[in-house]
Amino acid sequence: MKKITIAIDGYSSSGKSTMARELARRIGYVYIDSGAMYRAVTLYALEHGMASPDTGLNAAELVKALPLIHISFKPAGADGVQHTMLDGRDVEGPIRDMEVSRMVSPVAAIPEVREHLVRLQQQFGKERGIVMDGRDIGTTVFPDAELKVFVEASPEERARRRMLEMEQKGEKVDFDEVLANIRERDRIDTTRAVSPLRKADDAHVLDNDGLTREQQMDRLLELYHEAIDTDH
Ligand code: CDP
Repeated sequence: MKKITIAIDGYSSSGKSTMARELARRIGYVYIDSGAMYRAVTLYALEHGMASPDTGLNAAELVKALPLIHISFKPAGADGVQHTMLDGRDVEGPIRDMEVSRMVSPVAAIPEVREHLVRLQQQFGKERGIVMDGRDIGTTVFPDAELKVFVEASPEERARRRMLEMEQKGEKVDFDEVLANIRERDRIDTTRAVSPLRKADDAHVLDNDGLTREQQMDRLLELYHEAIDTDH
């Protein structure tokens, strides 16, 4: 069967990663979490003294180090989740920490960081048969993707989901802090100069505020079949 490229974009914690991963599993495609790549670069910056919540970000140093930062993905194991690797080390846990979440949007706003990661993402997608999720996949990374989905949900709903996710990992966080982080990332992501978060003109909007996971998946599969059946 013909393989296509599927781009899933949306706001932070809109549930798009879970959705994209599940879709890829069901249709036998490769899944790439582009946000994990921005998070891995942010973790590198934090660990190498190029970023800290107190002193901010040393963008020039980070840009210089970009060629040395090696990001890859380890195929899903028993937990069904593919793990992000930074310089050969499994960083799937640490890249989800609040410290990384706090610094990731400023890092992702650096034009050279974006250029570097977009190139890498395009290489991952060369073969088609890929589902990639992020903020600029349908607009910048794969503007020719056969299927583009833009996921929406209210900030409060997204904060509730993020809280639940963190609590399940045993992390104690404050709802207001999570909501503030989501709002702040929305603000930075939508207003940055280089490829800001926005819906591609030809993307389908999926508002998942009132939808169950199963309903979301049904809608996605429907869109996938429509895209496959359409001659491009
Ligand atoms: O999981 P969550 O939706 O909170 O975020 P993520 O997908 O892990 O992405 C983390 C951050 O990376 C976002 O807030 C964006 O600032 C940035 N990002 C981006 O700029 N472009 C992408 N394609 C993916 C993520």
